[in-house]
Amino acid sequence: MSYVVSHSFNSLENLPEINLLEQQSFTSPWNRESLEVELSNPLNLITVIRSSSEAEITGYSMTRVLPPEAELLRVAVRPQIRRLGVGSVLLNELLQKLLTLKIAQVYLEVSEKNRPALSLYRKIGFTATGHRPGYYDNGSTGAITFSLTINF
Ligand SMILES: CC(C)(COP(=O)(O)OP(=O)(O)OC[C@H]1O[C@@H](n2cnc3c(N)ncnc32)[C@H](O)[C@@H]1OP(=O)(O)O)[C@@H](O)C(=O)NCCC(=O)NCCS
Repeated sequence: MSYVVSHSFNSLENLPEINLLEQQSFTSPWNRESLEVELSNPLNLITVIRSSSEAEITGYSMTRVLPPEAELLRVAVRPQIRRLGVGSVLLNELLQKLLTLKIAQVYLEVSEKNRPALSLYRKIGFTATGHRPGYYDNGSTGAITFSLTINF
């Protein structure tokens, strides 16, 4: 399948679809108001991916961009089409975009229980850098921190 990926800062254009993805994808999704704030933050790069045969968004990511560093805040793919490579395409396109924005290092943190995301980040080239015990779920779940040096 082929995909179309687009990037924007400070855009509410895809708010309803991204809101739906949030509710479908996270145990603690941003509510519509929080999402609106994050989408309007001029530092946040919003990346959306669509299959070229459909208008609907199939995945999205949000990245806080502070050159020479960036933090990946969110990545989500529509539940019906997971494990088909969409997340990988999205993140690889994102890294290429970040390179053009003079980003050298990307950071993120993820629940130690989130096996799909842990595998995805490793596959893309991120390296685990630390463990934060009790970071999520009122202290019951740790976070793994990852980083990646962009070097195409
Ligand atoms: C994490 C997520 C974005 C992955 O998207 P995806 O489109 O399914 O990812 P891909 O199909 O590109 O998979 C890439 C790799 O990730 C890993 N992976 C993906 N889903 C997996 C699963 N269910 N179990 C184990 N590994 C998995 C595999 O290593 C896979 O490579 P492979 O298929 O060659 O083995 C998706 O599962 C999702 O939206 N999850 C909910 C939101 C979330 O947890 N986001 C991350 C924290 S912000």
